[in-house]
Amino acid sequence: MTPSSSFSPSIALFCSFFFGLITLSATTCLDHQKVLLLSLKNNLTFDPSLSTKLVGWNQTLECCAWGGVTCDETGHVTRLDLSRESLSGPIPSSQNQWQGLEKLEYLSLGYNSLSGSLPKPLLTLLPSLQDLDLSYNRLSGQIINDSPPRNLRNLDLSNNNFEGPVPGFIYKLAALSTLKLSANKLSGRVDLDKFAKLKELYALDLSYNKLSVSFSANFSLLSQVNSILLASCNMQELPNLKNQSRLLMLDLSDNKLRGEIPNWIWELGNGYLRFLNLSHNQFSGLQKPYTFPFLLDVLDLHSNNLEGDIPVPPRRVYHLDYSNNNFKSSIPVGFGNVLRSTLFFSISNSHIIGVIPESIRNASSLRVLDLSRNGLTGLIPLIGNLKDLQSLDLSVNMLSGSIPGELTNLAQLSSLNLSYNHLSGRIPQGLIKFTGLAFEGNDGLCGPPLKKSCH
Ligand SMILES: *[C@@H]1O[C@H](CO)[C@@H](O)[C@H](O)[C@H]1NC(C)=O
Ligand SMILES: *[C@@H]1O[C@H](CO)[C@@H](O)[C@H](O)[C@H]1NC(C)=O
Ligand SMILES: *[C@@H]1O[C@H](CO)[C@@H](O)[C@H](O)[C@H]1NC(C)=O
Ligand SMILES: *[C@@H]1O[C@H](CO)[C@@H](O)[C@H](O)[C@H]1NC(C)=O
Ligand SMILES: *[C@@H]1O[C@H](CO)[C@@H](O)[C@H](O)[C@H]1NC(C)=O
Ligand SMILES: *[C@@H]1O[C@H](CO)[C@@H](O)[C@H](O)[C@H]1NC(C)=O
Ligand SMILES: *[C@@H]1O[C@H](CO)[C@@H](O)[C@H](O)[C@H]1NC(C)=O
Repeated sequence: MTPSSSFSPSIALFCSFFFGLITLSATTCLDHQKVLLLSLKNNLTFDPSLSTKLVGWNQTLECCAWGGVTCDETGHVTRLDLSRESLSGPIPSSQNQWQGLEKLEYLSLGYNSLSGSLPKPLLTLLPSLQDLDLSYNRLSGQIINDSPPRNLRNLDLSNNNFEGPVPGFIYKLAALSTLKLSANKLSGRVDLDKFAKLKELYALDLSYNKLSVSFSANFSLLSQVNSILLASCNMQELPNLKNQSRLLMLDLSDNKLRGEIPNWIWELGNGYLRFLNLSHNQFSGLQKPYTFPFLLDVLDLHSNNLEGDIPVPPRRVYHLDYSNNNFKSSIPVGFGNVLRSTLFFSISNSHIIGVIPESIRNASSLRVLDLSRNGLTGLIPLIGNLKDLQSLDLSVNMLSGSIPGELTNLAQLSSLNLSYNHLSGRIPQGLIKFTGLAFEGNDGLCGPPLKKSCH
């Protein structure tokens, strides 16, 4: 006889009642937590017609069941997600408002229109806080330098108007994993070496502020860092990142970096680098020999001063921007064969000469192809098979011959710019169905939409 067969229906009933009670109590929030949340609601300005969470916070429902609220088994609020709730005005700043949420681990007020400063209680009165997300608001003023919760792991203050220095408490957060301060108005110097002590650091984003980032000659971060985003950080030199064996994303765009792009950069992350943005610097070339990492899928080298051979990207690249450089060379014959997965390719305004290789036909995933403002000669290749192409810009080159009728097969095309070339003959009438056409500056072209008729 197995124990379960002796289970009487009344015991089963008792059990389900008993466990039902437990589940019920597990989601019952404590009275003082409820009072705090209701006063928070009272003190937040939001548009009820756009709110999906706050609007439903009322006495009829149990507060752990309110939208955006998560409790632990003791009825304390642990997570509060009020992102995208159309919040405006200041974040409630009175002590009484926050004190008492002692188990709160996660607080997000991101993607709202909150203004005013970052209230001190948020950093000082929430002892359990691990994740604070205030990104995409209009918060301003200095980030107070107080002693924040020791457990703070993820701090996202990006896309606000914070000003003043990066507060010193950051470097004391032993558990800090993700720090995003990008797109604010922070200023002053930041010494990258100070981040070297943060043993849990995983992602660092200081981009788009008014910061000046510096580092010592022996600088090295801990090796588990996954993403380093330091765009617009007034950097004059490349930091030594050779030991970053886990790095997947690196953005050093819009700095003052010059010379050759060192070949160790391609070995970052043990060859697993996925995203590299070195655009808007003054790099003159790529140190040889180099091998691109196989997994690289975003490579942005635009607006530098790169000269010489056009680097052949790895086959997985989906965003490839070589525009605004100074190559003075031609596109390699088989180039299109490596762009089979590429959605975006631009090499506009880069002193490219020679013909457009026929292999571009094989870049069949392209949505944007921009070869404008170069010295390209020869014919427009047959690319009617690029079914996803939305934008084709071949303007300001020296392309000749007629416009291939095949282009009318490009069903997704919304912008076609062939202006300022040496094209001639009748414009294929099938093209006229497209919007965003430009043909001016080709003396030999005729037929609609041009006024000049063909004879
Ligand atoms: C904040 O909420 C409390 C409790 O609901 C209320 O007494 C107080 O007036 C509110 N403060 C503001 C500024 O709305
Ligand atoms: C309380 O909110 C629930 C939904 O969250 C709603 O169905 C109910 O009508 C509200 N009750 C009152 C009294 O506003
Ligand atoms: C770099 O070297 C200086 C002295 O040369 C030393 O004080 C500092 O701790 C070193 N930094 C690192 C990250 O090793
Ligand atoms: C890189 O790591 C190696 C081995 O882990 C270590 O010997 C070396 O000092 C590190 N380099 C830097 C610049 O920290
Ligand atoms: C690279 O950086 C530049 C300047 O910071 C930015 O405009 C561009 O969008 C970035 N490229 C990618 C692919 O994110
Ligand atoms: C396009 O790709 C096919 C097969 O993948 C290959 O045989 C052909 O030579 C390529 N075309 C050009 C012009 O390179
Ligand atoms: C076409 O290209 C020319 C030259 O690059 C530019 O001036 C013009 O604005 C473009 N036209 C359209 C419709 O994009």
